[in-house]
Amino acid sequence: GMGEVGDAQNVPIFAVGGFVRDLLLGKENLDIDLVIEGDGIAFAREYCRRHPCRVRTHAKFGTAVIIFPDGFKVDIASARMEYYHEPGALPNVEHASIKLDLYRRDFTINTLALALNGPEKGALLDFFGAQRDLQDKVLRVLHNLSFVEDSTRVFRAIRFEQRLGFHIGLQTEQLLRSALRMGFVEKVGGPRLFNELAQILKESNPLPAVERMAELGLLPYIHSRLTLPPRVKSLFAEASRAIHWYELLYTGEPCQGWLVYFLCLTSGLDEESLEELNRRLGIPSRHGVILGEQRREVHRLQRFFERRWGRGRPLRPVELHARLSPLATEALLYLMARVDNDEVRSWVSYFYTALRKAAPLLSGDELKALGIPPGPLYKKILKTLLDARLNGKVASREDEIVLVK
Ligand code: CTP
Repeated sequence: GMGEVGDAQNVPIFAVGGFVRDLLLGKENLDIDLVIEGDGIAFAREYCRRHPCRVRTHAKFGTAVIIFPDGFKVDIASARMEYYHEPGALPNVEHASIKLDLYRRDFTINTLALALNGPEKGALLDFFGAQRDLQDKVLRVLHNLSFVEDSTRVFRAIRFEQRLGFHIGLQTEQLLRSALRMGFVEKVGGPRLFNELAQILKESNPLPAVERMAELGLLPYIHSRLTLPPRVKSLFAEASRAIHWYELLYTGEPCQGWLVYFLCLTSGLDEESLEELNRRLGIPSRHGVILGEQRREVHRLQRFFERRWGRGRPLRPVELHARLSPLATEALLYLMARVDNDEVRSWVSYFYTALRKAAPLLSGDELKALGIPPGPLYKKILKTLLDARLNGKVASREDEIVLVK
């Protein structure tokens, strides 16, 4: 449908960037970015006049987002001749405007454009040797100032390198290192830095990218005390095991794996340094509890659990429940990653699978029906019922009724 609207408005439409890159690599990518050689906002409005969807526009940038009823989104940008051409310039036969748009992008492999309409429909525009670099599995910037113009590209380079199994080209690596030396990465604002770091930690196996960050000397730019000793590397490996274990439980409750990895990455920082880092990165306050209080509690519990194990005194279900219930899933997985003892780890997994959701079967209403007058006693009774359940002393509603009586 997009192509027809483009034809009707007589504007060329291209799919660009990651979508085309992944198409050529045979990887799924549902983020569709279109560039319109013309007025992208007018195009998006016209498209939504003809189809059941909504449009959000940003006039300042000439961009729009088309939002379909099922939530699917398509980003639209304008490559407008008038931005780049003198008035009265020749018709844009060489695609000068889209070429300029693509030239401003980060790496050659992201500069492919696929024509979606008009006489060129289906043609692949490759101005900067993207296909060759995809073949050679190499990441190259388009010009010498790329990392200076946008230092977050340093992190993007590392993320793409590891995700795609590519390598950063020699000259590009030199440019990257010199951007670091000249202090450009220090100037990246906290929230942007946080976003790049989180994106790296959201990759399915983030350790190689983190190792590459360490190797390129990037960690001190995140926090002056941040390092990657062997202990932290093995923590990543354990965290990855814990996260996979969790995913296989199919609880239906999402867990933020990146937060577990963030806890691992910063495990060597003292509390003050971590707070400093959180402030600098502008980490959303909803994560604050996990990165503060719960992290402290996990470090404490790890020592406590391992001591109990060392004395041959495993924790009883009631104790496990009392200590672990307050923790978020991410903190529990971090705890599992930290303990270097399979049995102690199994206490935590046992809590998660068997105890976490435990609750008395009898409700307050049923207690009332049993003739117990409502009051502060209820809380005590329900706690007793919960403990009995955790200890395996009651299995059914009848057991509970007997106990109450
Ligand atoms: N881009 C850029 N510089 C940045 C961020 C983005 O040049 N700092 C360009 C890239 O060329 C990219 C496009 O903007 O193709 C869209 O960005 P994004 O959606 O982040 O990139 P994808 O390539 O789609 O990456 P991902 O697969 O991780 O979504």
